[in-house]
Amino acid sequence: MSQALIFGITGYAGSALARHLVDHGWTVRGIGRSESAAGDLETLGVEVEIADVGEPEELTGLGRAGDHVFYLVGSISGHPDWTERVGLDGVVNAETALASAGIASFVLVQTLAAYGRGSDETITEDTPTRPDSQLGRISLLAEQHLRDALGKRGFPARFVRAGTIYGPGRRTVEALRNKRLRMLGGGSNYSSRIHVDDLAMVLSAVAERGRAGEVYLAVDDEPVSMAAYFDHLADRAHVPAPGSTPKWLARAMISGFGLTSKLTKGHAPLGHNLYALVTGNYTCSNAKIRGELGVDLAYPTYVEGVETLLADEGEDE
Ligand SMILES: NC(=O)c1ccc[n+]([C@@H]2O[C@H](COP(=O)([O-])OP(=O)(O)OC[C@H]3O[C@@H](n4cnc5c(N)ncnc54)[C@H](OP(=O)(O)O)[C@@H]3O)[C@@H](O)[C@H]2O)c1
Repeated sequence: MSQALIFGITGYAGSALARHLVDHGWTVRGIGRSESAAGDLETLGVEVEIADVGEPEELTGLGRAGDHVFYLVGSISGHPDWTERVGLDGVVNAETALASAGIASFVLVQTLAAYGRGSDETITEDTPTRPDSQLGRISLLAEQHLRDALGKRGFPARFVRAGTIYGPGRRTVEALRNKRLRMLGGGSNYSSRIHVDDLAMVLSAVAERGRAGEVYLAVDDEPVSMAAYFDHLADRAHVPAPGSTPKWLARAMISGFGLTSKLTKGHAPLGHNLYALVTGNYTCSNAKIRGELGVDLAYPTYVEGVETLLADEGEDE
């Protein structure tokens, strides 16, 4: 029986991965911080430990021989200190803790921030990286640490760069209904997206059939402009389409939030990392996950995927 150890198991993507693997007969363990989310997972037979990836001693002895390890700790928004703590220090701590455990694979899940503001051309795994945000730079430093560990110790790392993860449970319809969700700069830029259930399937394929040292883009078949995606969702959910905030105003707000967050050490609601990702242009190819890993997406485009948001979130109207 395959066994998984998921860092960030209480999160949106981590918990979906846990459910997917349990459904496929895996034994699943993981770490997170939220006691209540851990409780929900434990009812599925998943073992959850409360630990902080920033504290190396809390990770000692976590790994078991044969584990497929998934690292899903991090966020596209957050204070820069926190981004570095979980996106780089946590990865180093996890690798150190697992170095001699005999794990089968280590799948590091990151964003498209390594590609900076994206490109007008199709992005593939061979597209050169050129980060222009702190998140992008941190992501590549974490990746480099694992590449060094692979070279020196045979640490079985592989790298997933995921498009925008969407699906039920994100409360996106609710945010549209309450006019809390806005596009930046009109939304003519493209995003590559992946449904959370398809991401879970891609991650298990990368663990079992992927190659150490390789990058895999986890995206669906059809990049879509921000405006087209949210207009379609709003139309299907019968809620207002989102308004747009000019980029100059968004940047001014970020500076204001940044100042507040420096004073409070809290998370800024809109930071530079999130701004860079949601205003970038990412038209990514999934030829490698389809061709090399043979994945067959349940939601090949946002048109099919959006329907799962209606069933989940449209009810509380
Ligand atoms: N959201 C997107 O569209 C997107 C796109 C591409 C890639 N990604 C990446 O995919 C990963 C998962 O994203 P997500 O949306 O599932 O994020 P999420 O819901 O915020 O989940 C993050 C997970 O990390 C855990 N965590 C946070 N700080 C921790 C710490 N110090 N020690 C241990 N665990 C900690 C959280 O625990 P608690 O919840 O218990 O606090 C949670 O389990 C992230 O690395 C993100 O950058 C996200």
